[in-house]
Amino acid sequence: MNTRKVKQVVSGQATTDGAGVELVRVIGQPALMDLDPFLLLDAFRSDDPDDYIAGFPPHPHRGFETVTYLLNGRMRHQDNAGNEGVIEPGGIQWMTAGKGIVHSEMPEQQDGMLEGFQLWINLPGSHKMTAPAYQEHDAADIPTESRDGSVIKVISGQTSRGTSGPVSQPLTDPLYVDVSLQPDSAFVEEIAADHNAFIYVIDGEVVLEDTNLTQLSLGRDQLAVLDQGDSIALRSGNRETRFLLVSGKPLNEPVARGGPFVMNTEAEIRQAFSDYQRGNF
Ligand code: FE2
Repeated sequence: MNTRKVKQVVSGQATTDGAGVELVRVIGQPALMDLDPFLLLDAFRSDDPDDYIAGFPPHPHRGFETVTYLLNGRMRHQDNAGNEGVIEPGGIQWMTAGKGIVHSEMPEQQDGMLEGFQLWINLPGSHKMTAPAYQEHDAADIPTESRDGSVIKVISGQTSRGTSGPVSQPLTDPLYVDVSLQPDSAFVEEIAADHNAFIYVIDGEVVLEDTNLTQLSLGRDQLAVLDQGDSIALRSGNRETRFLLVSGKPLNEPVARGGPFVMNTEAEIRQAFSDYQRGNF
């Protein structure tokens, strides 16, 4: 086994998006513009309604997928393809924007805690103009694998012990798992050798090695980019610990960004703005 080491530690950047939602951008900011095929990771966590109540009124996307995973609170999704649903705690929404979708993402609560993540996963050029698609899976649909000292919720992909999440996407083959570790517990898992991978600490302390073989301790809201290898090995500190482990097959294509659109070329971005302005989404 060739264990992946940490090659970069990233702390998120506080920002505002939508109609004024306070969030932390972890991927998609200067310290980590992307981690092919992942274009963006936003984390939000607040019990102050002023931070989230304005939500994300109708806006377009083209060229990639958005994955929303909610830990606390409720969000209502609506789009111009006729999909509507409320994501509840422990649930996910996986939206393939493809050639274009206009959607809104609004908190379905006036108070209390809203906490979760939105991950953008790129689509290859051959599939950027595919028909939009939408799937929603509540907490009961997310399989849980119990191991000695850990519990793993599998959102997409498959663990080495064969637990499969409800979503599979062969284009980027994403593994997306939410791992809870007892204090002072070890976690070892295979990761496809051709994937890029990261972990994001939700709570507690994750201890693992960096590329200089130095022991690193990662805390709440820190992301670690992993180098190449076919597995990950880490342990928790002396508290209960929770983290996301995400990996995916890089596309190795040029990335052109224009706000809510991610294409291969600037011309395709201009086309996306023009199509949207003409009401062709
Ligand atoms: Fe959106």
